[in-house]
Amino acid sequence: MAFVAAFLSSLVIFTAFSLSNALSVNHYAKTCPNVDCIITNAVKEAYKKDNTVLAAVLRMHFHDCFIRGCDASVLLDFDSTGNNKVEKSGPPNLSLHAFFVIDNAKKAVEAACPGVVSCADVLALAARDAVVLAGGPTWEVPKGRKDGRTSLASETIQLPAPTFNLSQLQQSFAQRGLNLGDLVALSGGHSLGFSHCSSFQNRIHNFDKTHDIDPSINPSFAESLKNVCPAHNKVRQAGSIMDPSPTLFDNTYYKLILQGKSLFSSDQALFTSPSTKHLVLKYAKSKEAFYEAFVKSMIKMSSINGGQEIRKNCRKVNS
Ligand code: HEM
Ligand SMILES: *[C@@H]1O[C@H](CO)[C@@H](O)[C@H](O)[C@H]1NC(C)=O
Ligand SMILES: *[C@@H]1O[C@H](CO)[C@@H](O)[C@H](O)[C@H]1NC(C)=O
Repeated sequence: MAFVAAFLSSLVIFTAFSLSNALSVNHYAKTCPNVDCIITNAVKEAYKKDNTVLAAVLRMHFHDCFIRGCDASVLLDFDSTGNNKVEKSGPPNLSLHAFFVIDNAKKAVEAACPGVVSCADVLALAARDAVVLAGGPTWEVPKGRKDGRTSLASETIQLPAPTFNLSQLQQSFAQRGLNLGDLVALSGGHSLGFSHCSSFQNRIHNFDKTHDIDPSINPSFAESLKNVCPAHNKVRQAGSIMDPSPTLFDNTYYKLILQGKSLFSSDQALFTSPSTKHLVLKYAKSKEAFYEAFVKSMIKMSSINGGQEIRKNCRKVNS
């Protein structure tokens, strides 16, 4: 009974997110034929000045899609009720940055084709470009998303937490129509970027009643994390890179899981069950297999539907 109820409620959520407009790679063929290229140039420009924007943009797109669908709710400074307790002011805001990349891309797109391209599409395209500029795979992005008019800081608790175990992650992804295969492939996004100490401190201080440090962490790696992030660390900006090549999109992330050198409990969790472990092993061995799976799952995640308008300014709803 409980199982049936859980299954039905996940169906309802999935349907609510996925039933509206169909996306198509040719969506702007007539109305804004150069949209892909315009956005790529804007991301490239930003990347030349600051190579951390690639990770930031990829994560921003993930956050967008996981709350209210890919509707650019993550970009709003104010929503339609004048509320400024928006998603980006919620706790995970600490890790979101580089909103200027999307502002610049949208400005360039508006100059070429005013009022046509949604902010949600700009973000989805920019996320693809971020992966490509980091040396990862490329793909055609289906387009035609709409922008939402609601953004609530309180909803950011719906994002999966880095302390989650595999069943919690599985549930979070299933509520959005994503399966365990998608979870393993998309977690490879952690090939890029940086984390604050707060996101993995559960693993290196007072882990549980019998261990100070999570026993699944490689001991010398744990030592190095403790050095960067001592207990009661006061430096809010301190933290660690996701992998030794934080600006290169490759399969190192999976190799690190095998060695107990991933940052989050949620990363190591992928190695705790045969249902996901075989995929971690597969992607650690083959970058090509990872790329193929990542592209498939990105297209799936970035098709979760949300909004209803084409915003003129990505930070504000249309009046
Ligand atoms: C599976 C569940 C996930 C969890 C629990 C999770 C959690 C986190 C956390 C805690 C951080 C660090 C935040 C900070 O302390 O600054 C982070 C960073 C990041 N995440 Fe995830 N994440 C997940 C999935 C994803 C997915 C699906 C993607 C993209 C495909 C992604 C891409 C990134 C990137 C690129 C960064 C680095 C951001 C930067 O350097 O600015 N994550 N994630
Ligand atoms: C996001 O967090 C940073 C650092 O804590 C803070 O300075 C900034 O004002 C926050 N942004 C929003 C929109 O709340
Ligand atoms: C995962 O965490 C949840 C919530 O803390 C707990 O109920 C569940 O038993 C855990 N599952 C596993 C497999 O450890």
